[in-house]
Amino acid sequence: MTETSPDWLNLYAEHLQHVRAQYTHALEQSEGHSLLISSGSLKTAFLDDRTYPYMVNPHFKAWLPVTDVPDSFLLIKPGKKPKLLLHQPEDYWHKVAEIPTGYWVEHWDIQPIQSLKDAHNEIGDPGSFIYIGEETKVATEFGIEAINPSSVLNHLHFERASKTPYEIACLEAASLTAARGHLAAQQAFFHGASENEIAHQFLMASGHREQHTPYSSIVALNEHCAVLHYQFYEHTRFKGTALKSMLIDAGTSYNGYASDITRTYAFKPGIFADLIDAMEREQLAIIEEVTTGINYAELHGRMHLKIADILKTAGIVDMSPESMVETNVTFNFLPHGLGHLLGLQVHDVAGYQLSHEGGIKPAPDKYPALRLTREITEGQVFTIEPGLYFIPMLLKKLKQSVYHTAVNWPLIEELMPYGGIRIEDNIAVQNGSPVNLTRRAFSAVKAEARSL
Ligand code: GLY
Ligand code: MN
Ligand code: MN
Repeated sequence: MTETSPDWLNLYAEHLQHVRAQYTHALEQSEGHSLLISSGSLKTAFLDDRTYPYMVNPHFKAWLPVTDVPDSFLLIKPGKKPKLLLHQPEDYWHKVAEIPTGYWVEHWDIQPIQSLKDAHNEIGDPGSFIYIGEETKVATEFGIEAINPSSVLNHLHFERASKTPYEIACLEAASLTAARGHLAAQQAFFHGASENEIAHQFLMASGHREQHTPYSSIVALNEHCAVLHYQFYEHTRFKGTALKSMLIDAGTSYNGYASDITRTYAFKPGIFADLIDAMEREQLAIIEEVTTGINYAELHGRMHLKIADILKTAGIVDMSPESMVETNVTFNFLPHGLGHLLGLQVHDVAGYQLSHEGGIKPAPDKYPALRLTREITEGQVFTIEPGLYFIPMLLKKLKQSVYHTAVNWPLIEELMPYGGIRIEDNIAVQNGSPVNLTRRAFSAVKAEARSL
């Protein structure tokens, strides 16, 4: 985080102007010239009266820092102040949304609505509208025919990869709260806490409740670190030599923007701790290679060569790094992509999109899990998250392949109880170069702790 607090008032004003221009341009691809964006509705579970956690429509929170107002709408008409139709039902079971305050409200006309009928009355001629939202039946009832037109969405989704300075400040703030959580989780791990306890420490220190994180935290001890999206929180506290490693992949949100951060720790010095150090060096090295004008897939390929170097130097695989990559032996140790776009959604949209008009450049056959195949351009924000894992299913395949003789199986056996390593930072491309939002956030939080 920058030392002084961001100038949210001006950052937001500039952001809103940019978003407005973006949407106006996108609407030129359609018949409509006004916009209705729904915030989304709560969904009730089958045969129950409880609702699933609410997730706001990302097109809604692209305009304003409001993420928790179901059944509300944004109404954008050319030449008019944008309007927030804020749902304020008569309800004594739940707290009803209050009229918001803050640096952004002066740019909005905020009007309470009690029902869909109130929203309908605001629309006027539905023929001039396009609707963006999940509740398509509502749009039809309002008489709007242009519902989520792909020409408009393609345009907006392609643009969304490049962030405004306001969005970068939000993403950095999201890294900051996550860094607080990560440092608490690290301490809990070295005190022998369980996965469940560590997950709670993360939430407490980051000031988040679980449903407000951009994804469920992954908190894995020992061999669970080999499960890429490990989903449980076990209660076991490991003691002594039984405690080996932790992989924590956990992020937070700020104004609806996500951080997505992973750290891996060894409980004791040794071969796994050395591997983490090597991975960290190479992760920082690949980040240094981020520059505009190259394709992200190129970085992914280069990372495989770095992983091959690590495997060779550690004595895990005895092949030349080039042939390890050529034969795809490295895939068995790094089966996911180097990273993905990040923003309003943790895996932000349009990672494969070729242009404003649409079209995709799919992941290469060799690396099907890669989520980002776009050219790196100014203002993009993405993750860089190389991994190196000991995954039983993939190692079994490697053992059955012609390359099995090159693998040091006793060493693999020794490393399997540690599970694996992933180190993930959030990177903004500024002036053609990488800015590591996550490392800056960790430094700021550590400085904060020192000054206490
Ligand atoms: N947290 C999921 C991912 O790193 O993509
Ligand atoms: Mn992650
Ligand atoms: Mn990620």
